[in-house]
Amino acid sequence: MTETGSSSTESLSAAGSLSAGSPASRPPVIELDGVRKTYRTGAFEVEALRGVNLRISEGEYIAIMGPSGSGKSTLMHILGCLDVPTTGSYRLAGEDVNQMPEEDLAEIRNRRIGFVFQQFNLLPTLSAWRNVELPLCYAGTGRAQRRARAIEALEKVGLQDRIAHRPNELSGGQQQRVAVARALVTDPALILADEPTGNLDSASTQDVLSLLNELHASGRTIVLITHEPEVAATAGRVVRIRDGDIQDDTGPGHQAGSAAGTTAGPGSASGTAARSGNTGTGNAVRGDSAPLTWEVRQ
Ligand SMILES: Nc1ncnc2c1ncn2[C@@H]1O[C@H](COP(=O)(O)OP(=O)(O)OP(=O)(O)O)[C@@H](O)[C@H]1O
Ligand SMILES: [Mg+2]
Repeated sequence: MTETGSSSTESLSAAGSLSAGSPASRPPVIELDGVRKTYRTGAFEVEALRGVNLRISEGEYIAIMGPSGSGKSTLMHILGCLDVPTTGSYRLAGEDVNQMPEEDLAEIRNRRIGFVFQQFNLLPTLSAWRNVELPLCYAGTGRAQRRARAIEALEKVGLQDRIAHRPNELSGGQQQRVAVARALVTDPALILADEPTGNLDSASTQDVLSLLNELHASGRTIVLITHEPEVAATAGRVVRIRDGDIQDDTGPGHQAGSAAGTTAGPGSASGTAARSGNTGTGNAVRGDSAPLTWEVRQ
């Protein structure tokens, strides 16, 4: 709707069309500066993020690790525009997310970012292809094209013979591949995966990691949260979070986090909570811009 929004989505579209290369030579697609997130539940406060500084370049594949409760999912929700920092700034493809109208954020969230979660988050009453076409339904894509693209996405994750199966008729690994297909069907430039292999056996883990590798090779930016060192090892860069701040970052030229290794404490933030909510799962889509071509195949 606005010039700001248009340029945001165009920049992310461009990011999605880049081929793999040296991430260091590319501009940051994600820039977090002093990001703090405080959750308030009644009189109780939890400072989940405590001043995170992070740059992620287009085409990077980055793993985020850290103990339970350290703020990884909170960070991912902010990266995915599902939530906003309490204080601090988040620039996505050069645009300040705090300044973007909700309509533009919805467009970015739903068309430019693909989400994959540990629990798959498939709708149990819908078949595989119906689950995968959902983001396109919300986007207003025509029925025939929706079906064709959903089936194409399922083919890419190797499930062409399971398109009519419902989630409870699929194994855990197959369900996660359906979820990956759903995340990809809109051809996002950025993939955010929160412990996508957390519920999978080692063979299914390898399947999902191969898909992420393939997406990375085709130029997508990937942010993967994991507890498993062998999963993190597939990424080119590992960021460790502890107590809501970056403790370690293997990336070249990364921003030094603030006060790495600080001790734990309850803490409390003084900032005002900005926009919240929209913590839905999957790709709830609104908007009607032309879909990009997905070019993962060789
Ligand atoms: N919606 C919420 N309301 C209140 N507190 C929350 C909320 N979401 C997360 N928290 C708190 O914020 C902190 C960070 O949570 P977060 O989910 O980001 O951790 P995590 O690193 O993803 O952990 P895990 O590895 O267990 O998934 C935790 O102390 C958690 O209890
Ligand atoms: Mg989490």
